[in-house]
Amino acid sequence: MRTPLVAGNWKMNGSRASVKELINGVVDGAKAINGVEIAVCPPFIFIADVAAATQGSNVAVGSQDVSTELKGAFTGETSIEMIKDFGCKYAIVGHSERRTLYGESDEIVAEKFTVVKNAGVIPVFCIGETLQEREQGVTEEVCARQIDAVFAAQGDNAFEGSVIAYEPVWAIGTGKTASPEQAQAVHAFIRAHIAKRNADIAEKVQILYGGSMNPANARELMGQTDIDGGLIGGASLKADDFLAVCAAGQ
Ligand code: 13P
Repeated sequence: MRTPLVAGNWKMNGSRASVKELINGVVDGAKAINGVEIAVCPPFIFIADVAAATQGSNVAVGSQDVSTELKGAFTGETSIEMIKDFGCKYAIVGHSERRTLYGESDEIVAEKFTVVKNAGVIPVFCIGETLQEREQGVTEEVCARQIDAVFAAQGDNAFEGSVIAYEPVWAIGTGKTASPEQAQAVHAFIRAHIAKRNADIAEKVQILYGGSMNPANARELMGQTDIDGGLIGGASLKADDFLAVCAAGQ
């Protein structure tokens, strides 16, 4: 039995003051939620404040990205040890915005995955197809290619202790959600693809859905056999909405 995980990806939003209010609301409301793992992924500059506000709570913290490099002359980058030092349990890697807007290839994402995993932080590995790819009928090929880059870097047990987020690019920030059946079909494919390498890990790995998940659709999505939670963008910026999505995972 997999415990659901609901993680908020705040992306590049918030001010120091608004983030304090948001995290205090989340921490407070999360006290009433059991049986669901909860995490928030703030912009780097707010991680220290958020980590302090979540201490002793059931809300974990993650980063939205990580450097492929471990230390040194890499202006603007943040290393996994820094992320770990500030108490992050998770690090998102390969978000579609990083892949498409910042040119991160499957290989770069796999390198980031490796860096995170080697540091003992849990990678939240994002994959998913564009609208064009879905229309061309290559959704499974795209997801398999993205996953296989990580297998190539890390071997058959790559996904042990990691989290996968299936985020169809056409559903991100668009208000268009994959139907529960569409999402379930891809989640089942992902799990089966991982099972070809290691069935035990495939059974245990949490596969989150992301893409316009909100309080109205969360319960049905998370009710699907292979959907083990959500990676929430827009709806994670309001404490009440985020908490409602978390509660839907109970
Ligand atoms: P939205 O929930 O805003 O569609 O974003 C999803 C996402 O990209 C989470 O990483």
